[in-house]
Amino acid sequence: MSTPRNSHLPLPAPSRRPRRLRQNPAMRELVAETALRPADLILPMFYADGIAEPREIVSMPGVHQHTLDSLKRAAHDALDAGVRCVDLFGVPRDEDKDAEGTQAWNPDGVLNRGLAALREEFGDDLLVMADTCLDEFTDHGHCGVVRTDRHGNAVVDNDATLVLYQQMAVAQAEAGAHIVSPSGMMDGQVLAIRDALDEAGHQDVSIMAYSAKYASAFFGPFREAVGSSLQGDRRTYQQDPANLRESLLETELDIDEGADFVMVKPALPYLDVLRAVADLSPVPVAAYQVSGEYAMIQAAGRNGWVDLDAVMMESLVSIKRAGADQILTYFATDAARALSAR
Ligand code: PBG
Repeated sequence: MSTPRNSHLPLPAPSRRPRRLRQNPAMRELVAETALRPADLILPMFYADGIAEPREIVSMPGVHQHTLDSLKRAAHDALDAGVRCVDLFGVPRDEDKDAEGTQAWNPDGVLNRGLAALREEFGDDLLVMADTCLDEFTDHGHCGVVRTDRHGNAVVDNDATLVLYQQMAVAQAEAGAHIVSPSGMMDGQVLAIRDALDEAGHQDVSIMAYSAKYASAFFGPFREAVGSSLQGDRRTYQQDPANLRESLLETELDIDEGADFVMVKPALPYLDVLRAVADLSPVPVAAYQVSGEYAMIQAAGRNGWVDLDAVMMESLVSIKRAGADQILTYFATDAARALSAR
């Protein structure tokens, strides 16, 4: 070792030595403040119509558009690893999309069939959560009804959309969803859905509200995953990445409206938001490690530029440390396996 330049200074020997608590794995585990459990993890899954074989999503290596068979198999793998909840997205054929997204509340629509199949397969052993949003089902790809305003601009009509979300949520509950998760960022969506569910006798179905959801470029690979038809962006309904304060308002509104869980999304680039929301929320706080976060870690890992497994675990622990009680992540099964193997 080279002699430090200031070695002639009479430095006192430190008495407070934080390194004492880092000496070996047992000591490090003894003082670990954050522990991930397999049951913290929620696996998002894609069930597609019109495919004979599962199709890997190019920008999300290891993630598939599933057939019914492969969907059930992958859900079994998740449960076997200790995951207790999956979040299902439907991928309809292009010809089944229309301006309102009517397949979203058709009991024979792809998502509702997938929910029913999973509920039948697993009963209450594996919680089935439904994505409650129209973008997969509309031919324009927006999360709601598009109309032309009096200035001739195309706008997403908030209140007309709420009515469709109510129908969609009820159809998902009837199909067997334990949890519905409104992700469209319409004002009042939680209250509207809670009312409709209660009215239809589904008091036991919970709502995980996407409360602080940003208009994020990190959703890029998801658009491939669901074959999105979107031209343009979602900045009139999803939040501006520059803003923190409005996340607090969105969260408070959702809790007042009856959200059983709130969510922050994306996760890693928004840990400050997650911390702020966790500090004020009296209900469980979820965070969604989105497709672009997953894709970046996979890409760097597959190039040998980072240690994939280590970065996966570090990202998840960081999200939990920042305040997440549940984490939606495409790594759920892999991470749960890694946790059980330790
Ligand atoms: C909307 C929805 C999106 C995601 C989850 N729900 C896409 C969007 O808002 O554009 C993104 C998930 C991801 O990127 O992993 N139904």
